Amino acid sequence: MSTPDLFTAVEIGDLQLKNRMVMAPMTRNRAAEGNVPQDMNAMYYRQRASAGLIITEASQVSAEGIGYPATPGIHNEEQVAGWRKVTNAVHEEGGRIFLQLWYCGRISHPDLLPDNQTPVAPSAIQPEGEAVTFEGMKPFITPRALQTDEIAGIVDQYRQAAALAKQAGFDGVEVHAANGYLLDQFLRDGSNQRTDEYGGNPENRMRLLNAVLDAVCETWPANRVGVRFSPENSFNSMSDSNPLEHFTYFISQLNGRGLAYLHVLEGDMMTQSRQLSYRALRDAYSGIYIANCGYDKDRGQASIANGDSDLIAYGVPFLANPDLVYRYQNNLELNEANQDTFYGGDETGYTDYPFIEESEVRLA
Ligand code: PHB
Repeated sequence: MSTPDLFTAVEIGDLQLKNRMVMAPMTRNRAAEGNVPQDMNAMYYRQRASAGLIITEASQVSAEGIGYPATPGIHNEEQVAGWRKVTNAVHEEGGRIFLQLWYCGRISHPDLLPDNQTPVAPSAIQPEGEAVTFEGMKPFITPRALQTDEIAGIVDQYRQAAALAKQAGFDGVEVHAANGYLLDQFLRDGSNQRTDEYGGNPENRMRLLNAVLDAVCETWPANRVGVRFSPENSFNSMSDSNPLEHFTYFISQLNGRGLAYLHVLEGDMMTQSRQLSYRALRDAYSGIYIANCGYDKDRGQASIANGDSDLIAYGVPFLANPDLVYRYQNNLELNEANQDTFYGGDETGYTDYPFIEESEVRLA
C-alpha cells in the first residue's frame, strides 16, 4: 500500500471517512435562545462537509455544564431538533459528524448557571482569568468541590446527553477531556487535589473519565466514541506536575476500549510552545490518533507520512475556508480568518467565507 496522505480515505471502526482532514471543534457562540442550534449553524457545518470528519463545537451535557453564552447544548428536545438540522445538512452533503460533549466545571460563572449556583470542580481552586458572561467579562470565582456522592449525577448527565446525540443523528461523539474543562480538571493534578477515590494518583484522577466513557458506551458502540486530551495546554489556568508520565498512563488505559480515536491538542494554546514528545504519546496508543494544534498542509502531510498521526484536525483554516480540502488538494490560496467574528454574532464571519468558485457545494 502506498503511504497515506491527507486525502487518503480511512476507516475508523465501521465508519468510512473520505479523507484524513478533520474539522476541529471550535466554539462560535451562535446558538439561538435556549442554547438551541439554529439554521445558520446547519449552514455553517453543511458548507464544511467535505472534511473527512467534522467534530462539532463543544456542547454542554446539562444546564449545569454551561460556561459561556450562546453555546449549544444537548440536554433537551429543542436542542435535539436543532442538532437534527445540522446532522441532516452534513449527511446530505456526504459528510460525517461527531458531537463534542462538554461540561465546563470551574470555567463558568454563577451568572450563567441555573439559580446562580456556584460552578463545580474537583477541588475548590479558583482559576486565574475571567468568565464570559452576558454582562461581559467577570473574574472566575472559587468553585465548589464536588462531593463524592455527586459524581454519579455528573456521569448520568453524560449518559443522557450521549443518548440524545444519537437521537439527533450524529455519527458519534467526542468526550471532551481537554482544555481545562471538568474532565481535564480531574485528570491534571494542578486542579485536582481531592483525597477521595477521584483524586491523588493517576488511576483515581481518571476514574471520572472512565465512568463517563462507560456511560456513553451504553448508547454508542465504543468505535463511535472519541476522546480529546491536551496534556500541556495551560489554557484555563491548567497545569500538571508530570504531563508526559501522567498522559502516557491515561492513554494506555484507553487501549483496549476500542474507541474511534484519540484526539490530542499538541502543545500549549497560550504560548504556542510544544515541549512533550507527542510521538511517545502516539506510540502509547493502539488506535487511531488525530493530531491538532497549528498544523498547516505541509506539517499535516509530514505528520501522516511519518506515522506521527493518522488524521489531522484543522481549526481556524476550516473556519475561514469551507472548501479547505479542495484548496489543499489543489494548492490554492486560503481565505484569511477574521478574529473579530470568531465568537458570537450572525452570519458575518461565519457562513460568508467564500468558496473557490468551482468547489462550491450545494448551499440550499
Ligand atoms: C473557548 O470557548 O474559548 C473554548 C472552548 C472549548 C475549548 C477551547 C476553548 O476546548
